Amino acid sequence: MKIARRTLLKSIAGAAAAAALPVDGHRKPALAGQSPIVLKAQKGRVPLARGLEGAGETDIWGYNGAVPGPTIRCRKGEPVHVRLVNGLDEPTSIHWHGLRIDNAMDGVIGLTQGPVAPGASFDYLFTPPDAGTFWYHTHNRAWEQMARGLYGRLIVEGDDPEDQFDRDLYLALDDWRLDDKGQIETASFGNLHDWAHEGRLGNWLTVNGTSQPSYGLGRGERMRLRLLNAANARTFRLQLKGANAKVIALDGAPVEPFALPEAPYELASGQRVDLAVDVDAGDGGQIELWHVSRREEIKCASFPVKAAVLRDRPALRALDHSGGFATPDLATAVRQDLVMTGGAMGGLREAVADGKKRTIQDLVELKRVWALNGIAGDMDKPLLSVKQGTTVVITMKNDTAWSHAMHLHGHHFKAVERNGKPVTDGYWRDTEMVDPDQSVALAFVADNPGKWFLHCHMLEHQAAGMRTWINIDT
Ligand code: C2O
Ligand code: CU
Repeated sequence: MKIARRTLLKSIAGAAAAAALPVDGHRKPALAGQSPIVLKAQKGRVPLARGLEGAGETDIWGYNGAVPGPTIRCRKGEPVHVRLVNGLDEPTSIHWHGLRIDNAMDGVIGLTQGPVAPGASFDYLFTPPDAGTFWYHTHNRAWEQMARGLYGRLIVEGDDPEDQFDRDLYLALDDWRLDDKGQIETASFGNLHDWAHEGRLGNWLTVNGTSQPSYGLGRGERMRLRLLNAANARTFRLQLKGANAKVIALDGAPVEPFALPEAPYELASGQRVDLAVDVDAGDGGQIELWHVSRREEIKCASFPVKAAVLRDRPALRALDHSGGFATPDLATAVRQDLVMTGGAMGGLREAVADGKKRTIQDLVELKRVWALNGIAGDMDKPLLSVKQGTTVVITMKNDTAWSHAMHLHGHHFKAVERNGKPVTDGYWRDTEMVDPDQSVALAFVADNPGKWFLHCHMLEHQAAGMRTWINIDT
């Protein structure tokens, strides 16, 4: 029997908090060193559905059999060597989301590398140029491989003085579509309704691969809380109850700290937000992380406050961002429009797919129901081709009935216009949410040569046509 999403989500919200599982505490992060970090994409069984009545361990695909995979901690400017070993029955690859690294290491099958066949391996060698909160995930049939668990956290340490934070916690939020035995529902992979609507939404929410974990904090301490949306398509709307939190970085890039708004804070698929959380609740108090949307209210994690930390908390400082992103020169920018069409209630009549103009009936047949500039997923030509060092402004116009989380590989961009009006409060991001009937102009210096994928991070939208690439020549 299929579980109705609403009931299941409600029952999670109502259930008592699961046993504490300090994932960061007992699982050692892999350290970048001389010998490669081995990530084997393989099947595994994990207690993902703990708390769901009648459920056993869940069969997943994960790096080294775990969800999330091993956390990689490396240092800005120091080389990292990761060996992907493919223990699956189908090809795979790894993309290093948000890292501005060599194009050949970017992990996009068909664009930057060939498929890593079952039994084969691929060595990724790169040197992260920016400190911050990143992640890695499969980039082949990601709509299925990621939904089965192939992702992990990646932290690049920089030159920040250590004394600012008493604790550093990285939580990966995900939703899963589970059946009543707690197994991943596979019959609906590739479901056209999902692809034409919001994507594959789950009915079971996890944080670092478990349901409603609990992390003890000390009164008086300051925690760096890194949050990642690793879901295929769901947008999390986050509230941190019982704490005073400031946003200190978005998509890995430091920002001048600002108070986390009280209204639910939107985190789209692929995005990260770093918070500085000052724990001022008294002994026995509790901080809670919630996902609050119009349809559901779910507790994601709790942080019971225990013993006090006896020290004076320093004033919060912005994170170090030396050697950051090149400043776009808007006067000389090459401008490109990117018009999004299609999807349910989008009125798409025709688009080009596999080199031919197709009617909507044909597009449905081909499962290419979204288009960018009238092209539904064809990758033979880039959206645009520029010389290295050019400032590019891409104006994304959302003519669909759905929000899209647009992600550009290998670069961070900054909003310089919204709905035709200049803005000066844009943030450096690698994934930008564009809501229906909105337009946003994103600027960046195309300083990293190669072929860079540009797509909606709602993975079903990507699979069904919302993808293109830009070419940067030396
Ligand atoms: Cu995290 Cu091409 O994506
Ligand atoms: Cu989308």
